[in-house]
Amino acid sequence: MKNLMNITDLSKEEIQELLVTAEDIIANPQKYKHACSGKLLATLFFEPSTRTRLSFEAAMLRLGGEVLGFSEAASSSTAKGESLSDTIQTVGCYADIIAMRHPKEGAPVVAARRAGVPIINAGDGGHNHPTQTLTDLLTIWKCRHTFEGLTIGLCGDLKFGRTVHSLVAAMARYSGVKFVFIAPAELKFPRYIIEDELESRGIPYEEVSTMEEAMPKLDILYMTRVQKERFFNEADYIRLKDTYILTPDKLKSAKQDLIIMHPLPRVNEISVAVDDDPRALYFDQVKNGMFVRMALIMKLLEVKV
Ligand code: CP
Repeated sequence: MKNLMNITDLSKEEIQELLVTAEDIIANPQKYKHACSGKLLATLFFEPSTRTRLSFEAAMLRLGGEVLGFSEAASSSTAKGESLSDTIQTVGCYADIIAMRHPKEGAPVVAARRAGVPIINAGDGGHNHPTQTLTDLLTIWKCRHTFEGLTIGLCGDLKFGRTVHSLVAAMARYSGVKFVFIAPAELKFPRYIIEDELESRGIPYEEVSTMEEAMPKLDILYMTRVQKERFFNEADYIRLKDTYILTPDKLKSAKQDLIIMHPLPRVNEISVAVDDDPRALYFDQVKNGMFVRMALIMKLLEVKV
């Protein structure tokens, strides 16, 4: 049985297979409409979500399967004091596969020991978000048909941003990739990931404090939200939340074929005036997320069509 805890649980070849399947699903949706008939997905979300939960549920329904679950811990027996292990072992008696989001880093690893069915990490605290990365990779792949040689700027909350942690781990495996980290001092990209994923392999990166310094060299600009829910102190959140706001004016020095990405939800960090720019692909990411999750569910359930 296979789980997905981190994006590096998948080899580059397995990721490529998932992207190929996702593209085939986009081209031939009818072929997959009964692929998971008789299978049940549980979505257990102990933290809020719009895209991840609904795209997992839409993915399973479009594969002909069924879904059950909860969207907040308060509506489960967690509110009565039940442990995560017991909740997961219970749901593993009902469902064939579980997608779970939890505010505690590492919670899906604990869950995977007791589930008895495949577990997908749908975001664990400020740690990882591997299925967002599959979404991001499909979006980049559809534009560029390669991951090699790209310069990727990551901007905003790089300390707690689980989407950027997973994306860097994934992209660091492709040759010629460079990273530019754009963050305030308090929200810098974690040292342990820089050491493990970049410095140990001699992968180039730079850290800058303004978008202007980075913009002309970027092939991809990945914006992130400063996450109120990860701060202990509201004053710090208020001070930092609007550090970076992408506007049409800031894009004047950008490449014509820049890819502008954001995992969403956004708050203020991308002006709505950017939405009509053809380089803005964040709503393409939303759509791609459902297709790549369809491919992932099929892989983990070992379903062939
Ligand atoms: N990108 C993402 O994880 O969005 P949600 O929090 O809405 O699931």
